[in-house]
Amino acid sequence: MGGPSAEREVSLSTGRGCAEALRGEGFDVTEIDAGPDLAQRLSDLRPDVVFNALHGRWGEDGCVQGLLEWLRIPYTHSGVLASARAMDKTLTKAAYRAEGLPVVESRMVARAAASACHVLPPPYVIKPNNEGSSVGIWIVEEGAEGPPALPDSMPDTVMVEAYAPGRELTCTVLGAPGRERALTVTEIVTDGWYDYEAKYAEGGSRHVLPAQIAPEVFSACRDHALQAHRVLGCRTISRTDFRWDETRGPAGLILLETNTQPGMTPTSLTPEQAAHAGITFGGLCRELVEDASC
Ligand code: DAL
Ligand code: MG
Repeated sequence: MGGPSAEREVSLSTGRGCAEALRGEGFDVTEIDAGPDLAQRLSDLRPDVVFNALHGRWGEDGCVQGLLEWLRIPYTHSGVLASARAMDKTLTKAAYRAEGLPVVESRMVARAAASACHVLPPPYVIKPNNEGSSVGIWIVEEGAEGPPALPDSMPDTVMVEAYAPGRELTCTVLGAPGRERALTVTEIVTDGWYDYEAKYAEGGSRHVLPAQIAPEVFSACRDHALQAHRVLGCRTISRTDFRWDETRGPAGLILLETNTQPGMTPTSLTPEQAAHAGITFGGLCRELVEDASC
């Protein structure tokens, strides 16, 4: 848990919650805040399984998965390739497109170019290619005169994506390879943008599950989430996020991204969807541990 990514605090919350739940399931758990000595600590400890509670870069993008493969220690969640692919929004979209899944038009451009002039007609979104939890997202509103001056903390190359209006939906896929199934669909209702604050502050957003949407959109979400999980090669768990423009019916559904390390914090979506399917938080953590491999 922890680690150096922009989602460090989210990961600490996920990690502490999962560690406590796993102890409740009878496991012997050591908590490790992932630092530069991670390889050494894991070599010394030689755990039976690593529960990967990291989010964001280095922990969700194939890096730590590669280390665990190298050390031959079984670990939870997705492997190297799926993690790397799902963390990279451009590669994710290419995989979605290959499967015929609906995505929004986007381009990768130099940060300087995105700060100099509108790359797309507003409204549009500027985002890092590889961050989570809405870190580093800029929304350029309709009628905005010029683009934002992007700070140096943004990557040298950024994704510029047409703004997809509509309702926010999400669906978790759970189960060992060959037995994966889509859980329910949640609608996330916020006063404004579903940003970092809305995601993690108590009362920052309202989750409606099952989502009160047309049955054909509900089942399309579940089908698409399952397809996304498979085409990316995810293992045991993933959560795919959608936008749905209800004025366009089922055709208004687009995939935003697939998270291979879905948040497991007290305000997170996946544990609620599991609970709706009758799976306790401890049971969810146990399932991940039982499906661990390397
Ligand atoms: N990136 C956060 C943890 C999520 O998708 O839940
Ligand atoms: Mg994400």
